[in-house]
Amino acid sequence: MSTLTKLALGAMGRLRPKPAKGDATPKIALPAPDKAGGMPLMEAIAKRHSAREFAAKELPLPLLSSLLWAANGVNRADGGRTAPSAMNAQEVDVYVALPSGAYLYDAAANAMLLVAGSDLRRVTGYQDFVDEAAMDLVYVAHHSRMKMVPVGNRESFASAAAGAITQNVYLFAASNGLSTVIRAWIDRDAIAGALGLGHDQQVLLSQTVGFPKG
Ligand SMILES: Cc1cc2nc3c(=O)[nH]c(=O)nc-3n(C[C@H](O)[C@H](O)[C@H](O)COP(=O)(O)O)c2cc1C
Repeated sequence: MSTLTKLALGAMGRLRPKPAKGDATPKIALPAPDKAGGMPLMEAIAKRHSAREFAAKELPLPLLSSLLWAANGVNRADGGRTAPSAMNAQEVDVYVALPSGAYLYDAAANAMLLVAGSDLRRVTGYQDFVDEAAMDLVYVAHHSRMKMVPVGNRESFASAAAGAITQNVYLFAASNGLSTVIRAWIDRDAIAGALGLGHDQQVLLSQTVGFPKG
């Protein structure tokens, strides 16, 4: 769908998901993430960049599992995560929009939980490439987990935490030959509606990830 069409539909409040491809499973148990190897950190940083051309090809589940773990997985016995959060509130949830449905990444269970049985990739942003890339991540702040953070700081702290997650994804992508771009040009109401979010949840950012085109 073109950006112009998306803008028009968005203005009318009618930017909607399309039917899912394949079966949407209520819970996808992820394979154990590969926590070893990869590119040396300085090389991955040297290669980090935004890209906006994606192949219409899905990510294999083991790669998706490692990507989500790198993004915001549990990396310590005490439940600590790969990305920081103010007072360890762990308030940012990662949603994964796939052709088969939209899922919430459950880091503790290393699983993806179905939240919408539709393909809502095209709802995750005004840019056309988001419709066909392997997946679009959506970062959502859960304000009820930030009770210890002063109200006026909650959005900025959650945005900072989401930024750390996006950089983890950038570095994972650089290390694994994937393309990615963080996106703030999004219709937050359309995404919140499609994901069925509650009043204490706030859509912050989206990020497309997939194989490069060609
Ligand atoms: C907060 C934020 C929002 C962004 N929003 C978008 C966006 O909506 N669409 C897009 O294509 N790129 C977006 N970008 C990516 C920037 O355009 C990109 O990082 C910048 O051009 C520098 O390119 P580089 O990432 O390759 O270094 C965003 C970046 C940030 C940090």
